[in-house]
Amino acid sequence: MMIRTIPVTPFDGQKPGTSGLRKKTRVFMQPHYLECFVQAIFASIGGVAGKTLVIGGDGRFYNDRAVQIILAMAAGQGAARAIVGQGGLLSTPAASHLIRLNKTDGGIILSASHNPGGEDEDFGIKFNMSNGGPAPESVTEAMYAATRSLSEYTLFEAPDLDLGRISTVTLGDMQVDIVDPVADYADLMETLFDFPAIRARFAAGFTMRFDAMCAITGPYAVEVLENRLGAAKGTVTHATPLPDFGGMHPDPNPTWAHELMAEMMGKDGPDFGAASDGDGDRNMVLGRGAYVSPSDSLAVLAANAHLAPGYAGGIAGIARSMPTSGAADRVAEAMGLPCFETPTGWKFFGNLLDAGRVTLCGEESFGTGSDHVREKDGLWAVLLWLNILAVRGQSVAEILAEHWARFGRNYYSRHDFEAIEADKADAMIAALRARLSGLAGQKVQGMTIRTADDFAYTDPVDGSVSKQQGIRILFEDGSRVVYRLSGTGTEGATLRVYLDRYTPGTGDLQLDPQVALAPLIKAAHGLAGIAEYTGRSSPDVIT
Ligand code: G6P
Ligand code: ZN
Repeated sequence: MMIRTIPVTPFDGQKPGTSGLRKKTRVFMQPHYLECFVQAIFASIGGVAGKTLVIGGDGRFYNDRAVQIILAMAAGQGAARAIVGQGGLLSTPAASHLIRLNKTDGGIILSASHNPGGEDEDFGIKFNMSNGGPAPESVTEAMYAATRSLSEYTLFEAPDLDLGRISTVTLGDMQVDIVDPVADYADLMETLFDFPAIRARFAAGFTMRFDAMCAITGPYAVEVLENRLGAAKGTVTHATPLPDFGGMHPDPNPTWAHELMAEMMGKDGPDFGAASDGDGDRNMVLGRGAYVSPSDSLAVLAANAHLAPGYAGGIAGIARSMPTSGAADRVAEAMGLPCFETPTGWKFFGNLLDAGRVTLCGEESFGTGSDHVREKDGLWAVLLWLNILAVRGQSVAEILAEHWARFGRNYYSRHDFEAIEADKADAMIAALRARLSGLAGQKVQGMTIRTADDFAYTDPVDGSVSKQQGIRILFEDGSRVVYRLSGTGTEGATLRVYLDRYTPGTGDLQLDPQVALAPLIKAAHGLAGIAEYTGRSSPDVIT
């Protein structure tokens, strides 16, 4: 057993995207590839000597190897302590919580989130700061710079640690605490929500289905929903995390969680349904016969959060990513709360949460969360919904209908065009960008364009500026189209088109969103020339 330094030549393209570095698993499996990126992470935070890190991942293929590599490197570079989830497992929100709870210097999370897992699928790694949140751009840029210039890495060479047993061991001079990945997180949930009220509702026959999609939330959901809240055994399906997620695509949306969708849309379905993604930070919630769009979910949660003990004193403010619908804005306005519009990516909420300016955050990409951690949190959102359902004693459909009648409804949909050739997608966006200044006043599909711009964000806390965060076309009637290229894909480019149209509470509130949005969809295709540039006339995924 010894400390070894290994010379390396830098790899190209180790540039963190929306949420860390994501590549095909086999890319990560190349000799020294992961090591180089981990070395760059360490460099970007001034080294790990004397520091404590949380380490864990969503259990996908290569998670086990990656955890051992990171431990060996941390030990070889003088880290004082590592806190690792048993089996190398931690959901993203649980990792965020452990970082905060133990006041560590940060943590490394292994996941490609909602992307499929397996030897031929995707892997990823990201660093979270001592506040529990994803590294900000200044740090990810430093990481990328470090990947370009490093020449060696150091590790402590030793046999693999047995991570299967909850225990405290040492690796060289580093202490390694192998902890229950679920317990602290579940305890935190008990402090936020009215567990007795939810338990009583389950005891009275309330039924639920939680689809863990063979990913990391299985053990969390079983412990919280079945063991602590008394939901029927078997409420959680696909509950065992598997390295390839059992072949499932662990993205909780109507397309990929189709089993759950089918069950919930049937007339004999359970009262409440939910699913989570690979690493447990995303969620989809459903009622019997009712789909809750993520944008509406944020708005409903904001309007009702005071019903949960953790938020009984009210919330400080709401933040949503720019492409998320304006539904939450209506709630903020009615409740006299500040509302912030940030670029896509949970990291942009961190400063607002740290400064106490917002309590709830949400994104159209099936992410909702609060200031309890610094990541979005799938199970948290499900529990807040359960708390609201238990206190109000109504169905999801009734709660939605009342919400829309009070605040109006933002008909909303996202259309994704996947794996298009990157240069064609770039050309389309560039052409649109070049035309932006001339679009105001033009009429499309009977609607007049009020303004068109490229979203830029100035962080109200630290003044940092993020440009080119999505092209927005705003119409006179308040409707909106947003175009953005995904920052999380691993193959070609994914074009996302976000569509939002507001109808007041007195209007027609029960339309199919695709019908309500039809003119806007046509306008979106025409304005950007989607078919001309990409050859696609219909999306691959609609959420
Ligand atoms: C990850 C981030 C989210 C973000 C999403 C956007 O899930 O954690 O905060 O909304 O990526 O992904 P995209 O593919 O649209 O860049
Ligand atoms: Zn995720």
